[in-house]
Amino acid sequence: MPAAPPITIEKDAAIPTWFRVGGRADALATPRTLDELRALVARYETIRVLGDGANLLVHDDGVDGLVLSLSHINNVERVEDDLLRVGAGANLPKLITHTAREGLAGLEGLTGIPATVGGAIVMNAGGAFGEICESVLAVCALTRDGEEVTLPRDQIDFSYRHSGLDQLIITTVDLRVRPCDPDAVRRRVKEVMAYKSRTQPMAEKSAGCVFKNPTLDTERVSAGRLIDEAGCKELAVGAAQVSDVHANFITTTPYARAADILKLIDQVRDRVRAHIGVELETELRIWRRGETP
Ligand code: FAD
Ligand code: EPU
Repeated sequence: MPAAPPITIEKDAAIPTWFRVGGRADALATPRTLDELRALVARYETIRVLGDGANLLVHDDGVDGLVLSLSHINNVERVEDDLLRVGAGANLPKLITHTAREGLAGLEGLTGIPATVGGAIVMNAGGAFGEICESVLAVCALTRDGEEVTLPRDQIDFSYRHSGLDQLIITTVDLRVRPCDPDAVRRRVKEVMAYKSRTQPMAEKSAGCVFKNPTLDTERVSAGRLIDEAGCKELAVGAAQVSDVHANFITTTPYARAADILKLIDQVRDRVRAHIGVELETELRIWRRGETP
């Protein structure tokens, strides 16, 4: 068999994000295999991993080093009746459609969350209907030095929108599923989707919630509600605005710049601090040239 052609490293490449704004990557590569991934990790010192770009704002100046997309590392294998082994680049919504069709319960609470499986794990994505950590059995990853590590669930520090895995390059994830009636899974998918479509601007360009829900006293409170109550729904900077459907979403129209979004984030944070004295923390990941991820 002829050898596979060498991997292409695209220079000055666009970085696809759900906001559709921001600068370019000095270099971007999409490895087809784990061997190619290892070779790239050995070659570059500064590496940023791109998932589906659904929680990401790239600064207008773009980023240095290498951006790695794992979109080709997306294999889904049913290893046991109740165990899926999934490549980190697999698309989460497609995986949920697949499990619903196969009658495998467990992931349907994550309906309506755009993500790769790797990005969902790093963020511990979820909400009122469940978090991905509830399904995780183990995570395989490369360290920045190229060492392979396998972390069983009990060695991962999952909490609200946190995994502690940011410094790793997640390659494969073992997910527990539960064989059941496909109709029951499909019904749940529809219910969750209906809730999200009713309460979030799903058709607009955004990166989901910008801020984490803060804990007030002992309870987690919707940052969206606090931003709404602080009167931010009319705020806009350039082509970025606070959504009037859900105030924790910033939506963009064509010609928006990352700088518009960053200014708007500061304005919202200032208003909420002035209104109720709470300091909001961003959930959104922000990439800037020269900042080590
Ligand atoms: P990216 O945005 O590409 O990256 C996020 C972070 O993960 C970055 O730091 C990146 O470097 C890192 N990363 C990605 N892949 C890997 C990997 N393989 N190894 C190591 N690091 C990696 N989120 C929720 O939690 N709940 C919701 O209900 C929700 N609803 C949303 C609705 C909309 C319309 C949108 C646009 C977003 C929503 N989000 C929600 C936010 C987003 O979907 C999640 O944060 C998701 O987990 C992002 O995954 P991603 O693959 O797009 O990651
Ligand atoms: N609310 C308002 N005004 C708003 C938005 C919300 O008053 O502009 C009120 C709602 O009416 C409701 C309450 O706040 O009474 C909670 O709203 P919602 O159900 O939308 O939940 P949330 O806490 O605002 C969280 C997650 C979402 C996730 C939803 C549903 C965070 C930061 N947000 O939002 O996740 O989809 O629950 O499970 O944890 C994301 O992380 O990107 C994201 C979208």
